[in-house]
Amino acid sequence: MENEEEWNMERTLSIIKPDGVKRALAGEVIRRFEQAGIRIAAMKMLHLTKARAMAFYAVHRERPFYESLTDFMSSGPIVVMVLEAEGVIQRNRDLMGATNFKDAAPGTIRHDFATDIEQNVVHGSDGPDTAQTEIAFFFSSLEMV
Ligand code: RTP
Ligand code: MG
Repeated sequence: MENEEEWNMERTLSIIKPDGVKRALAGEVIRRFEQAGIRIAAMKMLHLTKARAMAFYAVHRERPFYESLTDFMSSGPIVVMVLEAEGVIQRNRDLMGATNFKDAAPGTIRHDFATDIEQNVVHGSDGPDTAQTEIAFFFSSLEMV
């Protein structure tokens, strides 16, 4: 097929959470993506309001940790990125490691840097549908390079 090299080319949303930015881990996280051959198609730093954090994590609104999570996510600047590569949705999840750093495999970002089940340094979209809506939450198509 003519576009074989672009087969399964995907985009996903990555966030370096407020703990990651505060602890000066942004460079290390980005280095891991670049080292893995993942292309950064868009990137910016911003500070979510509580309302915007609640909207972003609306899928978790019934969960007991929703209030605390959205307080945390609006507590300081974050770095949001669109990552692009073949199979990058799963590959990013693999680089991140399990939600709870205690369960995360050695060498993953959360294993190596997370300090808490909530303060776990990075966010990554968990599937094609959430990747699409989460990218659109932060970026217009004009911001993608
Ligand atoms: P994320 O959405 O941030 O990429 O993380 P995830 O898919 O691995 O985990 P998810 O279940 O979607 O949870 C979202 C974020 O909520 C916080 N959390 N706290 N206190 C708790 O039990 C708890 N569980 C989850 C974490 O910051 C988690 O990444
Ligand atoms: Mg999630």
